[in-house]
Amino acid sequence: MLSRLWTSSSQHKHQHQLILALLLLLHPFSATAQTGPNITLGSTLSAQGNNPALWALSPAGDFAFGFIPLQPDRFLLAIWFAKITTNLTVVWSANGAQPVQTGSKASLTSNGRLSLQDHNGQEIWSPGVGGVAYATMLDAGDLALMSSDGTGYAWHSFEHPTDTILPTQVMKKGGLLSSRSSSSAGDYSLGRFQLRLLPDGNLCLNTIASPTDHPYEAYWLTKGTLGTGSYLVFNQSSGIQEVQENSSRVNVTYANIGSPEDYYQRATLDPDGVFRHYTHPKPGAGNESYLDSWSVADFIPENICSAVIVEKGGSGACGFNSYCQFASNQKTCLCPERYTNVDPTDISKGCMPDFAEPRCDAYDSADFVLTTMPNTNWTNTAYEWLSPMVEDQCRQSCLEDCRCMMAISKDGDCLKKAMPLSGGRVDLAYGGKALFKIPRVDTSAPPPGLSRGRKSPPVIISAMLGCSAFVNILLISAIALLFLSSHHRKRSPRAQIDSRTVGDHLQAFGYPTLEEATRKFGEILGQGAFGTVYKGVLTLREAQALVAVKKLDKLARDGEKEFRAEMNAIGRTHHKNLVQLLGFCDEGPHRLLVYEFMSNGSLASYLLGENRPSWDQRVQIAFGVARGLSYLHEECSSQIIHCDIKPENILLDDCFTARISDFGLAKLLMREQTRTQTDIRGTKGYVAPEWFKKKAITAKVDVYSFGVMLLEIVCCRKNIAPEFGSDVRVILTDWAYDCYSEKRLDILVERDEEAMSNRRMLERLVAVALWCIQEEPSMRPSMKKVTQMLEGAVEVPVPPAPTSLISSMY
Ligand SMILES: *[C@@H]1O[C@H](CO)[C@@H](O)[C@H](O)[C@H]1NC(C)=O
Ligand SMILES: *[C@@H]1O[C@H](CO)[C@@H](O)[C@H](O)[C@H]1NC(C)=O
Ligand SMILES: *[C@@H]1O[C@H](CO)[C@@H](O)[C@H](O)[C@H]1NC(C)=O
Ligand SMILES: *[C@@H]1O[C@H](CO)[C@@H](O)[C@H](O)[C@H]1NC(C)=O
Ligand SMILES: *[C@@H]1O[C@H](CO)[C@@H](O)[C@H](O)[C@H]1NC(C)=O
Ligand SMILES: *[C@@H]1O[C@H](CO)[C@@H](O)[C@H](O)[C@H]1NC(C)=O
Ligand SMILES: *[C@@H]1O[C@H](CO)[C@@H](O)[C@H](O)[C@H]1NC(C)=O
Repeated sequence: MLSRLWTSSSQHKHQHQLILALLLLLHPFSATAQTGPNITLGSTLSAQGNNPALWALSPAGDFAFGFIPLQPDRFLLAIWFAKITTNLTVVWSANGAQPVQTGSKASLTSNGRLSLQDHNGQEIWSPGVGGVAYATMLDAGDLALMSSDGTGYAWHSFEHPTDTILPTQVMKKGGLLSSRSSSSAGDYSLGRFQLRLLPDGNLCLNTIASPTDHPYEAYWLTKGTLGTGSYLVFNQSSGIQEVQENSSRVNVTYANIGSPEDYYQRATLDPDGVFRHYTHPKPGAGNESYLDSWSVADFIPENICSAVIVEKGGSGACGFNSYCQFASNQKTCLCPERYTNVDPTDISKGCMPDFAEPRCDAYDSADFVLTTMPNTNWTNTAYEWLSPMVEDQCRQSCLEDCRCMMAISKDGDCLKKAMPLSGGRVDLAYGGKALFKIPRVDTSAPPPGLSRGRKSPPVIISAMLGCSAFVNILLISAIALLFLSSHHRKRSPRAQIDSRTVGDHLQAFGYPTLEEATRKFGEILGQGAFGTVYKGVLTLREAQALVAVKKLDKLARDGEKEFRAEMNAIGRTHHKNLVQLLGFCDEGPHRLLVYEFMSNGSLASYLLGENRPSWDQRVQIAFGVARGLSYLHEECSSQIIHCDIKPENILLDDCFTARISDFGLAKLLMREQTRTQTDIRGTKGYVAPEWFKKKAITAKVDVYSFGVMLLEIVCCRKNIAPEFGSDVRVILTDWAYDCYSEKRLDILVERDEEAMSNRRMLERLVAVALWCIQEEPSMRPSMKKVTQMLEGAVEVPVPPAPTSLISSMY
């Protein structure tokens, strides 16, 4: 079999031989497997071992069909991308809901029937058609059963997709994709999201009821935007299109990839309910980029959290009682305060209160308080709608009503809701508030746990003596719950208890609080000059908020006073273009800063990401940074020099507003040290020349760095780009001046049409940047002047040639 393979000479074949040889070596027992695309009558494949077992491979070697091992001793009969070996990407599976054990068999019987049988010989799956002549794995990723009467397909997998469609695949009316229930490796069971092409030609995304699979109302629907289509097709060179009766095409997803032959593509209805179009560079001739991964080219709906508006029934995009947040193309399901995940391993399953729900026969409103969650809505029907009613009255009304677990207060309306809550989501444009009822924590009554109004266990036990077995079970469960919840509270003190307020808005947090808020520093957001930044959740002013916690690790050991003084200075700054410091911790050796969480990451990743941000957005970001810096330099009570302005330190909030981070920290570092060559604050490529010249460091160092960054924003590239080698373009600041003086800004922006159609603005931005990077600090404008020049309030004179210091350093 191997010798037959080695006779082939085409490059593709060569590669697939390598893979095959490898598979065969690793997995000698699957040697009964076929190695070509065809599966002949009478052929079988056994499920065994720890490696994928191949039954058929498409002629070009891109797709494989066979068994994939899942968790110990479970196997999936599936089609996968054969050349993507880092992470197996399954595109179709026969038995996701019912993986089989060792000893199970897939066979194409001599009378032409494909069947999967478990280790007991019981049939688990079959396409249900007979009269098949042979099965074949086609190059497109389609497993075809060819009919023996020569009429073509008896059955093929493209007509029975699971959660994925591939280029050239067509979905007819009535077609359906179902998401996996979770993205954890090895779980291919059916999830609760569907994509359907309805009989009327509309495409829809919906959730389903469990266990009837009844579809709920769509959370995304093409109606009114796409018109009635007749089928869906994955067009290799553009994306998923709906082809209408009159054969006009409407985009559903769109990927702008230059040469589709260089990429694998797939569109998958992911477990979070988002339908994503992915691309992956093909491990082609020459570049064996096996480490490449799938990247998202497009997705629907635009925001799954707010897409659930029309849903009737079901829990919404997240599970019951949880709320949905969508940022950076990722959906998260969060629990309100005092609610925890029903299944800690799967956040999509919803949340439950960690306390006993109030009982109407023993209700005391004094046991409860209401927390406030701004801009959070739950869309399930209110059992009572009170209007007009201001927030205070709404609070009162919910607190006094034993059934009310949450109330929405918005525009003079008060909507009281009972459990379970559904359709929860954060939406900054919402404007309303969710008021959540949670038990009052009585901090003055140690030990915590048994709050007043509840009976103590001995009383309950004596009460049990005269009760029926059923009531006893209920009581025992209640006691267990009581102990569990008290235990839980002991383990996790609430975030606010140990916080003291310093200055106006700044809170001092205890180290254990931040440790808990970040789940023991579990999720790293980034690594900066000062230390590591972690994601966390804290309760601030009665609402839960995502925060970024920065652990400083490069500060001097002592100096607590200075640290506090500095924190106070930073805490007093308020500007829409600064990342707000919310609090800090200075306990023992620990120095941590707590900032608001910025959902859209850093400017660096945004500029250099897959899709070039729009020109207008870039201009707005540049203006924002200029305003923020101008504030730090000129409007604060004491001037703050940043010293490390670069795209990594500019973060983007939900609305893509530029926010300067890490300001005020340079001083903490500098105090201890005299400036030497090795102590230059800042980052290569952005530092002003005076750092190297023992000249005074003024706010003009920030102006210089801003100038460099402004050019990067204009050109969407790094200042120093080694990939240009010895080309003139390698240093952007030099290259920009050359292009400017030759009046060839079109080359500078690489024919960015959007930029070119705003030529005057483009010229202005480049000229301002060139002024900012003048070698002589006094030649550079102040940030205030920069802001005025950018906004067009003052003329921008023609700049002289800037320094070429960077090129000499590089
Ligand atoms: C697969 O079987 C079909 C029909 O018998 C045949 O035409 C084709 O050449 C076979 N392909 C390979 C690679 O053997
Ligand atoms: C793909 O879409 C383009 C238009 O977007 C169309 O011209 C082309 O014919 C389509 N290709 C196929 C194979 O349908
Ligand atoms: C096809 O029909 C749609 C409306 O269903 C219309 O908007 C479109 O212009 C039509 N295209 C052609 C080529 O007639
Ligand atoms: C799909 O969208 C892309 C980019 O928006 C556009 O260039 C292309 O013409 C569109 N195709 C159709 C068929 O609308
Ligand atoms: C393969 O490498 C060449 C040069 O290294 C590059 O131009 C090409 O884009 C790469 N192809 C893919 C699919 O990554
Ligand atoms: C493989 O999958 C895991 C889990 O889904 C993911 O964290 C990891 O980044 C993936 N690796 C690659 C190379 O795509
Ligand atoms: C908030 O929820 C209510 C249902 O209680 C719904 O009618 C309304 O449309 C939602 N508002 C927003 C902005 O999502």
